Amino acid sequence: MRQAGRYMAEYRELRARVSFLDLCKRPELATEVTVTAAERLGVDAAILFADILLILEPMGFGLEFTKGEGPVIHNPIRTTADVDGIRPFEDPAPLAFVYQAVRSIRSALRSDLPLIGFAGAPFTLACYAIEGGSSRHYEKAKAFMYHDPGAWDALMRRFVDATATYLNAQAAAGAQALQIFDSWVGSLSPTDYRRFVQPHMARLFAQLDPTVPTIHFGTDTGSLLELQCEAGGTVIGLDWRVDLRSARQRLGEGRAVQGNLDPVVLLSNQAEIESQAQRILDEAGGRPGHIFNLGHGILPTTPVENVLSLVDFVHNASLRRTH
Ligand code: CP3
Repeated sequence: MRQAGRYMAEYRELRARVSFLDLCKRPELATEVTVTAAERLGVDAAILFADILLILEPMGFGLEFTKGEGPVIHNPIRTTADVDGIRPFEDPAPLAFVYQAVRSIRSALRSDLPLIGFAGAPFTLACYAIEGGSSRHYEKAKAFMYHDPGAWDALMRRFVDATATYLNAQAAAGAQALQIFDSWVGSLSPTDYRRFVQPHMARLFAQLDPTVPTIHFGTDTGSLLELQCEAGGTVIGLDWRVDLRSARQRLGEGRAVQGNLDPVVLLSNQAEIESQAQRILDEAGGRPGHIFNLGHGILPTTPVENVLSLVDFVHNASLRRTH
């Protein structure tokens, strides 16, 4: 995740000239960033360069990425009437630059390197749309949800329909797997997840192209894994707070997992990185259905050589050698 992030010199050079949103909106640049990162790192799949928040613009939200503050939504949702005012995303055309990037990345990448498309999950999108940006406790979003469950339901339905349209358009353009980021859903209790999120996630998965595998990812979801699994996903993404072996037992045979090295481990040293990576491979137990990955996005201060040596280590130590 965040393969093409701020920790790579190639990316920083490009970003010095072009804003983040412009990078996302120019398919030739999004292609360069995606392909450079995947090839330089030697990973087994590439993830599209884009952002989960792009879909907010055509739905009527003013989106900006500011230095220091991160994403800002200028007209966050405050009332039921605001929910009614959201523009539906029935025609995927306003994000045509994303599908164009998918097509151009697909033709530039080595043919045996799969391309992952992605979108934000409705709950995580709602957090940004209501909070107006990043948040620690999601208190505005959760208070809105508790206070007006009807408006919450309407909001989630709109995000589900929009996200399904968007992801299916990425698949049609050539994305070979679809990852859904429910980054902030771990802030909910299991009871609230079941009530306010799970039916919407189930409806989202049911609307996706059934021929494309999906990765259902969240963080801090140790208490939600079974519920997320019931909602859908060919693969469940795990963060580092869960033990991979016991997570797999809980999810059962037939469900693949992705994860789950703590990205902060990449700020340590080779011995520590290798021992933690080996522990994860041991927990995976050589059984098929484990995709080695970080448990969350890579940090901007990560030394790139540590990532390169992790990729080598995992290739050499795991059963399936692809290089
Ligand atoms: O590997 C990749 O680069 C894939 C593309 C990708 C980005 N964002 C690019 C990006 C993906 C998959 C995302 C997902 C994303 N975006 C999530 C879910 C993943 C997760 O971490 O749980 C979230 C919550 C966002 C929203 C977002 N976008 C945030 C909070 C930020 C950081 C803003 C900041 O300044 O701290 C971004 C910006 C962003 N998205 C960057 C990249 C490479 C950095 C942009 C830059 O400054 O150049």
